[in-house]
Amino acid sequence: MSELVGRVALVTGGTRGIGLATVKALRAAGATVVLTGRDQAAADKAAAETGATALTLEAGDFAATGNVVKQVAAEHGGLDILVVNAGIMESGLLGMIRAEDVSRTLDVNVSGAVAAVQAAARAMARKRTDADGNPRKGGSIVLLASVVGTYGAAGQSVYAASKAAVASLARSAARELGGRGIRVNAVAPGVIRTDLTASLPADVLDKQSAAAALGRLGEADEVADVIRFLAGDGARYVTGQVLGVDGGLIV
Ligand SMILES: NC(=O)c1ccc[n+]([C@@H]2O[C@H](COP(=O)([O-])OP(=O)(O)OC[C@H]3O[C@@H](n4cnc5c(N)ncnc54)[C@H](OP(=O)(O)O)[C@@H]3O)[C@@H](O)[C@H]2O)c1
Repeated sequence: MSELVGRVALVTGGTRGIGLATVKALRAAGATVVLTGRDQAAADKAAAETGATALTLEAGDFAATGNVVKQVAAEHGGLDILVVNAGIMESGLLGMIRAEDVSRTLDVNVSGAVAAVQAAARAMARKRTDADGNPRKGGSIVLLASVVGTYGAAGQSVYAASKAAVASLARSAARELGGRGIRVNAVAPGVIRTDLTASLPADVLDKQSAAAALGRLGEADEVADVIRFLAGDGARYVTGQVLGVDGGLIV
């Protein structure tokens, strides 16, 4: 599979889970991939494992996020694919929510996504040439929303609100950037087996598994394959969509 040969991709939060699986999927399709992690050693390890290169990033830092995108575009002669994957999930019933948890979740999940999309849009709008000297313009941005952004989840009000914002960002950015050849979509995973969901109680996971039409939880590579599709030319007429990857949790 070589549909992404010559494309430059940035995956935020590429050290683990869905991000790492996405790095692998994009690499397998031939893309040059830069991944980010908060810790240099962890990012280097993921990069060595996948043939990507690594940068550190705290996604809650708006300026730093924009600068990382700019750096990748400058070092690789442009940016074709951005996957805004870095995200956090704070759980807690409404009565337990603290102001700092709200700020942190919105900073990482929403502000970080806005900063990345803003900087990527600037880079992708620029004319450039690929490795074979062919002119290129535009690009594909994929954001990580969640089923809870649409349907809600008790104990996850802030996280759900942040993911609803991400889905909305994808739609608005798609409208704004389509004329420049930039597609913006989101995936909305159900419950995927990663570190993020490992802390959920077993009975919650069992319930979610049973509620999915496919009768099981999802795996990170099953989300990554959809992200790779949205990133590539197979999805060239797809923009502004929030695509469920939830095993039929929501139908
Ligand atoms: N798993 C699910 O069921 C599920 C469902 C719906 C949506 N999602 C979304 O999918 C995305 C990935 O989830 P996951 O399950 O793969 O999570 P994960 O296993 O916890 O991995 C999270 C990734 O994000 C990075 N990250 C976390 N906080 C960061 C920060 N403040 N700044 C920069 N990077 C940060 C982590 O990097 P470090 O190595 O530096 O910690 C890691 O690479 C998230 O946006 C999540 O909300 C997941």
